[in-house]
Amino acid sequence: MDKLLLLLLLLLLGVFPAVFFQGVAPATVCMVCSNFKRGHCLRGKSNCTMEQGPGCRTRDFFIFTDRDGWKLNHTELDCSDRCISSHWHYEALKISTFCCKGQDFCNRYQGKGQG
Ligand SMILES: *[C@@H]1O[C@H](CO)[C@@H](O)[C@H](O)[C@H]1NC(C)=O
Ligand SMILES: *[C@@H]1O[C@H](CO)[C@@H](O)[C@H](O)[C@H]1NC(C)=O
Repeated sequence: MDKLLLLLLLLLLGVFPAVFFQGVAPATVCMVCSNFKRGHCLRGKSNCTMEQGPGCRTRDFFIFTDRDGWKLNHTELDCSDRCISSHWHYEALKISTFCCKGQDFCNRYQGKGQG
C-alpha cells in the first residue's frame, strides 16, 4: 500500500508541472515574413508558434547612405528563442529588434514595418 502511494505521488509530481506550465504560458502564434512593409507582408508570409521564451521577433533593418542618412530598408518577422530587444549597429547597417508575446501576431504591430 505504501509503495503504491509513493508511486502515485511520484507520478503526480512528474505530470503536474507540465500541465501547470502549459496553463500559465499559453503559446503565442507569431507572424513570419521576410519583407514586411506598411502593415503588409510582401514576401515569405507564414506563421510560427512560441511555446515559451521571449516570443515573437520583429527586426527593422536600416541602411545608411550619404544622400538619405539612415533609412528603413525592410522589416523581418519571425520566432526566436533568443529574442532580445536591442539596437545593433555596424558600419552602414543598423538593426532594431523588438520582442513580444501573449497576443497572437503581436510582432506585426512592433517596429517600423507596421506604419
Ligand atoms: C499558420 O499557417 C498555416 C499554413 O502555413 C495555416 O494553415 C494556419 O491557418 C496558420 N495559422 C494561423 C493561426 O493563422
Ligand atoms: C534590403 O531589402 C531587400 C528587399 O527589399 C533585401 O533583398 C536586401 O537584402 C536588404 N538589404 C539588407 C542589407 O538587409
